[in-house]
Amino acid sequence: MLSTTEEKLIKAVEFIKTKTDFVPEIAITLGSGLGELASHIENAVSVSYSEIPEFPVSTVSGHKGRLVFGYLFEKKIVALEGRLHYYEGYSMQEVVMPLRLCRMLGAKTLILSNAAGGLNLDFNVGDLMVIEDHISLFVPSPLIGKNIDSFGVRFPDMSEVYSKELIEKLNLAAEKTKIPFKRGVYVQVGGPHYESPAEIKMLRTFADAVGMSTACEAVAAKHAGMEIVGISLITDVPGKEEEILTHEKVTKVASEASEKFIALIKEFVKII
Ligand code: HPA
Repeated sequence: MLSTTEEKLIKAVEFIKTKTDFVPEIAITLGSGLGELASHIENAVSVSYSEIPEFPVSTVSGHKGRLVFGYLFEKKIVALEGRLHYYEGYSMQEVVMPLRLCRMLGAKTLILSNAAGGLNLDFNVGDLMVIEDHISLFVPSPLIGKNIDSFGVRFPDMSEVYSKELIEKLNLAAEKTKIPFKRGVYVQVGGPHYESPAEIKMLRTFADAVGMSTACEAVAAKHAGMEIVGISLITDVPGKEEEILTHEKVTKVASEASEKFIALIKEFVKII
């Protein structure tokens, strides 16, 4: 018997097929303030989450909530413009529906991006950090509930969630574009509140960046056999600066730095 999540996904695939027969190779999740990349996609066809029957809809400002199909350097892309977050009240199974949908539509590679707080005091606002590994233990697993066998096994291995091979290719893209990046561990927290100084102090002992998304998406994508690469744009470094943190500041910093993020991703897509 199919789980309800699987049934909803099958219905969503059927709906998308009535709009486009595009088969994407690469899915890209666009984080807060990074949605601008979608405007670089050629011959774009977009489908809003709200059009898809029984599909959850993003409620956060700065997140549009649609799939954009099209080409970037002749590569077939689907961009997820606007992600769903656990703090919006969705279940983790709902949160990962868009990227599972991309997998079902054919995407094998997943590029995850986000705006994150810097924990590593060597980081500066505006830095890019490639995610080498993550900590997802502070939020529930998106794999809780009946296993979807068509995606993967009940107890999936997570020893290399982020593809070392793709990180090397990203390195080549960084050299070519002269856009350097830091590397580190991303920790996902539930949010929506930002962290207290004591929480930052604790998180800093085992991670380099903190955010409210991404690790759960990487877990579901790994379960479904995708090759994953993740990039965080550091929008604040708590403790290093005194300014009070707001969502507006996070989105503003991400938008300001999005040019280099876009340049790096475009070069990366070209070479993979
Ligand atoms: N904490 C959690 N999530 C974030 C932050 C932060 O400091 N900055 C951007 N997203």
